[in-house]
Amino acid sequence: VTTSLTQLRIDRERLLSRLDALGEIGAIDGGGVCRLALTQIDGEGRDLVVSWMHDLGLRVEVDGVGNVVGTWPADRFDAPVMTGSHIDTVATGGRFDGNLGVLAGLEVLETVIRAGVETARPLAVAFFTNEEGARFAPDMLGSLVFAGGLPLEVALDTVAIDGAVLAEELDRVGYVGTLPCPARPPRAFVELHIEQGPILEAEGVTIGVVTGVQGISWHELVFSGQSNHAGTTPIDMRHDAALVAALTVVAVRRLTETTPGLVGTVGRIDLHPDLVNVVAARASITVDLRHADDDVLTEAERTILEQVGEMAAAEGVTFESSRLARFEPVTFDPAVVGLVEQVAVEHGHTARRLASGAGHDAQILARVCPAAMIFTPSVRGISHNPAEYTEPEDLEAGANVLLDVMLRLAGAGGDQSRGGDGS
Ligand code: GLV
Ligand code: MN
Ligand code: MN
Repeated sequence: VTTSLTQLRIDRERLLSRLDALGEIGAIDGGGVCRLALTQIDGEGRDLVVSWMHDLGLRVEVDGVGNVVGTWPADRFDAPVMTGSHIDTVATGGRFDGNLGVLAGLEVLETVIRAGVETARPLAVAFFTNEEGARFAPDMLGSLVFAGGLPLEVALDTVAIDGAVLAEELDRVGYVGTLPCPARPPRAFVELHIEQGPILEAEGVTIGVVTGVQGISWHELVFSGQSNHAGTTPIDMRHDAALVAALTVVAVRRLTETTPGLVGTVGRIDLHPDLVNVVAARASITVDLRHADDDVLTEAERTILEQVGEMAAAEGVTFESSRLARFEPVTFDPAVVGLVEQVAVEHGHTARRLASGAGHDAQILARVCPAAMIFTPSVRGISHNPAEYTEPEDLEAGANVLLDVMLRLAGAGGDQSRGGDGS
């Protein structure tokens, strides 16, 4: 790619106005968004992004799990340099998590198209189904199916926390597509995302060069005790499922205090019957454990389950555990990581290498092609919260680094690889 091509720049106002427009769909108090995967609202968000893809003249394809890929030029079928992310959110999400990566990708393609630039490889922007995992587990479900890490039939049978079946919801929003999955791997994958943590802002750095993603373990634990009267049941005669759930919350925190680098969260607690004067018969909780070293993560899982077993036995409560998600730590492609860093520095930005604490579709794409990520700062490190915010100049900087990285990966000019096998 010639110097003149790498001097192309995205249109910040166009990117911001698309972020605003998508953020209106499922908007909640505090400036956030609730667009849980494959709900009606997610369907509306999908339709808007797909309409923008059509406006740009992309070839828009949908696969069997509802992943959407827009490719430019529309008549090129060889492996593209791909970007993308997700537009589903957690129920109390912000406007940037995932959405930035998709809309910056769209902005990159629009910039290239308007400039009349031809690249040796096609360019593509994708959004993947159910990245968040807040409605259907596991998270990154769509990219997993895309990359061959989860059979399509298993994904389609997944039951949501609200009891809905994924295949039915996909059909209802109109996103059952015909593109085969697993998909043919892209040439490369680069995802722009907000950091969702405090490091870049604290250090005054504009571009995060993401080296990899820590391992993720999700379990659901269901405790079964006995409901009884809160006033009459002697403490030593109780089988209190809520107590064991609470002890587990504490055990997870204690383990993080003695295991350097471990983070652990109990993000959901459901009690039954959930009444003021009834000892809980059942408690269902989730445990999210993450660490950069897979052996440490495995040991942490084992330790928590052992402690839960002891605490439950002491209370005369039984429990069942089921694994909702398990991802090994991922190291991104050194060449693409190096390219991100080089481009960030050439653009005059401060840059810093860091690992991602959050899960991302790029970590799944890394199984099938060279992949990397670009982070932009998150104000006060806040995410999965309506207050999530990134300054417009940082969004612009990140999108321009994405543009330049994609152009360099796609190579200059012409159609020398048209009809090629993408190898
Ligand atoms: C996805 O957002 C995750 O890291 O939980
Ligand atoms: Mn995300
Ligand atoms: Mn998220």
